[in-house]
Amino acid sequence: MFIYEHRDTGVFHLQNAFISYIFKVMDGGALEHLYYGKRVHDCDIFHLLHEEKMRSCGAVCLEEPSIQSLEFTPNEFPVYGTGDFKTPAIGIKRSNGSLVSSFVYDHHVVYDGKKELESLPSLYATEDEAMSLEVVLKDSLLNLELTLSYTIFKDLPVVVRSSRIVNHGVEDVCLDRLLSSSLDFKESAFEMIDLVGAWGRERYVERFPLRTGIQGVQSLRGASSAEANPFMALVRKETTESQGEAYGFNLVYSGNFLAQVEVSSFALTRVSLGIHPEMFAWDLKAGSSFESPEAVCVYSDCGLNGMSHAFHALYKGHISRSVWANRERPILLNNWEGTEFDFTEEKILAMAKKASDVGAELFVLDDGWFGVRNNDRAGLGDWFVNYDKLPSGIDGLSKKIEAMGLKFGLWIEPEMVNKDSDLYRSHPDYIVGDPERFESHSRHQHVLDFSKKEVVDCVYEMLIKVFDTAAISYVKWDMNRYITEPYSKGHDGKWQGEFMHRYMLGVYELYERLTKRYPHILFESCASGGARFDAGLLKYAPQAWTSDDTDAYERTKIQYGTSLVYPVSMMSAHVSAVPNHQLNRMTPLVTRGNMAFFGAFGYELDLNLLSEEEISIVKKQIQFMKQYRSLIQLDGKFYRLLSPFETGNLGQIVVSSDQKEAVCLYVQGLNTVNGSWLRFKLDGLDADCLYKVTYHSFTKDEEVIGSFYGDYLMRIGLVIERDDLTALGGDFASMLFTLKAEVA
Ligand code: DGJ
Repeated sequence: MFIYEHRDTGVFHLQNAFISYIFKVMDGGALEHLYYGKRVHDCDIFHLLHEEKMRSCGAVCLEEPSIQSLEFTPNEFPVYGTGDFKTPAIGIKRSNGSLVSSFVYDHHVVYDGKKELESLPSLYATEDEAMSLEVVLKDSLLNLELTLSYTIFKDLPVVVRSSRIVNHGVEDVCLDRLLSSSLDFKESAFEMIDLVGAWGRERYVERFPLRTGIQGVQSLRGASSAEANPFMALVRKETTESQGEAYGFNLVYSGNFLAQVEVSSFALTRVSLGIHPEMFAWDLKAGSSFESPEAVCVYSDCGLNGMSHAFHALYKGHISRSVWANRERPILLNNWEGTEFDFTEEKILAMAKKASDVGAELFVLDDGWFGVRNNDRAGLGDWFVNYDKLPSGIDGLSKKIEAMGLKFGLWIEPEMVNKDSDLYRSHPDYIVGDPERFESHSRHQHVLDFSKKEVVDCVYEMLIKVFDTAAISYVKWDMNRYITEPYSKGHDGKWQGEFMHRYMLGVYELYERLTKRYPHILFESCASGGARFDAGLLKYAPQAWTSDDTDAYERTKIQYGTSLVYPVSMMSAHVSAVPNHQLNRMTPLVTRGNMAFFGAFGYELDLNLLSEEEISIVKKQIQFMKQYRSLIQLDGKFYRLLSPFETGNLGQIVVSSDQKEAVCLYVQGLNTVNGSWLRFKLDGLDADCLYKVTYHSFTKDEEVIGSFYGDYLMRIGLVIERDDLTALGGDFASMLFTLKAEVA
């Protein structure tokens, strides 16, 4: 890993074994992007990539005889108003109304390792793992200092970018936008992939060719959202899961975001990533500063799986500060789909007892344990136990559950309040909303104004009273609505433009305080399912509830899409009852388990309602997961093999880092009558290694299928008999195999 500084030509070249990222200081001091992609040798002619010629309508940005126009130059951090004319990365508004700014190179620093951001979750790396470059630009008229930060990781095809602005001047200005990253490509022969959806169908994969103009995804909901994830990729037309170029971009942030591609009339492709400039206006007072979240840029020349491997390795090793980040995740039973609000202590203890009998390790008490919370109309915000339901309190209950050999976990939704609650009655001013307008509710709840310190403090004090006195090992932090009427009561007009970001800072602050006070607790983030499934919260919560949709077949799509960016260990996945609560669909218990194995595994139903035969399957599933979870969640590399979006069926495999073991899964959608041959081709194996392949039915003993070389399994494939799928239930049947290298 190197950062080359060509002082004579003003070129910077960040390079490791996989990638090169190159830009230069132009005449006049603005930065020009030169190249990002597969590694190239360092050389002293990169500056010649700069092309200049007079074009009609080009605005020349330097004195004559220069003909330099920013419109025809890939800009490393474009500003508004100097002739670039495309989406800017920074916007400064002066009190006289001027929107013009101009940032020119001042100095730079290179150092080993990586700094963390001051106010936001960010990636970390040791001095051996990464190198960083900070380029400092100045707007001399206003005395504003803009720092562009770049970190290149030694062993990953990853560059992490962020930006920071300091107002050293005497004039207060308004920061209208500060993106994390802007990246220009001198071509547009790409297709774009994004992850979009809604509640219950989060992170579906969409792919389409770029066209001239603007395309992209965004959130203006106050959360990264179920509708669009802060991710996008640019790929070649011919790129598949296993081959071809892919550029992946992901924002380490949980609030409003913009992930946009703009293709100019000259086929210049600009990728913009950052906090959404809509509903954002930061009062950058003289002497103050603002930092953007980090943007992760990944390059792969071995397909989408290669891109995902980089994201997974980065997020497994360089963001979460939790002690749980690299630990096997406990197998849990969550009571939500089993009881919803309708439970008693007796019922909970009976559910926990059964969970303990089958070998689970953690019992999670979901919504409904506090305040007067018997439905979703009341109680949110009152974080004290409901003794009518739970006479022993959380303290007593948690200890009883621990006595059964289980750990105990608790659900909270700290950012919300019902109007029918003690908290709202005593602090009506705590909710977000414009007092002169209707305040929209959603699920009968309102958003607490986390931009206010006193609100965060109040919630913190309530929660620690519960957490301090009970035996709590896990917390599920839910968030069940988006922000409407974004207005912070009692604050001035300037604060309102800052509100959406300040809200997120409040959320991170509460996470920071709780995770510091309770370092042993495993936090799981959740937002009506997977509406805040992003890298920002990963710092605190190393796993997230992937979706409220627990149907095994729907999960093939949701988990497939999610895996494009996020590691398996981050995806909470539970076996639930049939008919499925969301779709009324019947899927085999074995398939429900098989899908949930590829995640932070658990159950979400009343096990007491299962037959003996089903309980025997559950016990085998739990034994299997205990045996393979270290491989699946921690050590293994995850490969997507068959896309449910393209084929209706799912194929995936996790291969151990030494390629000696693997777990692979085939899930079929609808059954086929009199169908064609089915060859299930694997990936990631050692071509020369002989693997013993075992089929796990969970109803009978494991069955050794045979021994095959890695190249056989990858090129010819495992034979799957359609009759076997029919016998396994037909629609939504699945087959799970393990592979083990034969000892030579
Ligand atoms: C939404 C979550 O996604 C569910 O798992 C559950 O916790 C409910 N909220 C409880 O209200």
